[in-house]
Amino acid sequence: MQFEEIKSKIVVALDVKTLEEAKHLVDELKDYTGTFKVGLQLYCAFGNEIVDYIKGQNANFFLDVKLMDIPNTVAGAANSLVSRGASFFNVHTLGGVEMMRAAKKAADEINPETIVLGVTVLTSISDEILQNEIKVNENASDYALYLAGLAKEAGLTGVVASAHEAKRIKEKLGADFKVLCPGIRPEYTSVDDQKRVATPKFAIGEGADWIVLGRAITKAENPKEAMKKVFEELK
Ligand code: C5P
Repeated sequence: MQFEEIKSKIVVALDVKTLEEAKHLVDELKDYTGTFKVGLQLYCAFGNEIVDYIKGQNANFFLDVKLMDIPNTVAGAANSLVSRGASFFNVHTLGGVEMMRAAKKAADEINPETIVLGVTVLTSISDEILQNEIKVNENASDYALYLAGLAKEAGLTGVVASAHEAKRIKEKLGADFKVLCPGIRPEYTSVDDQKRVATPKFAIGEGADWIVLGRAITKAENPKEAMKKVFEELK
């Protein structure tokens, strides 16, 4: 892959506590990523500031806010996020098809290019929790595939899923249905609290449209050098 193609597939997760740290990472990494992911921690604390800063650097941002509420409320939130300039955001597939459709429709009314992704089963939910606590009588992987089908039915752009499910999702729902994969770790980095990790190369090979790079890059001694190594791996 060429540099620009790799760059377009990389999403950097800005999971940091302070605005200064987030801005520093944006400065360091903006030449190597198509999109910065702003999660709930940063968005709740510094939503406007960080979004304006990323926009000011001509980078895209993905608001990982995992919306779930009644369709009308989610549509209103989607309207606000896209009006603010988000090129990506996500909703919980568990909110149902009508809710997802409302989110996509509201986003499309402002910018039809907006990427709206569905979160299927959180990676923190094991088969045991799903079956014994939430009372869903399926394994997490099969259930994620089922929920991805609902996201497709609702007209979402794609889903967030582990690299280990990317191929099954693409096979079932089509190559155009996008998959964003978190839990990415180059071989030489620590797994942290993630359970089902994959290397950048494996994830892209399985069909991931985007890979989320978080701590493997942001906690590295030199984030830019760590990013360059990922580019080497994917070249
Ligand atoms: O640091 P790390 O690479 O583990 O970061 C992964 C990012 O992707 C975090 O922001 C995390 O919240 C997010 N994510 C995830 N698993 C999901 C959905 C989102 O790790 N299923």
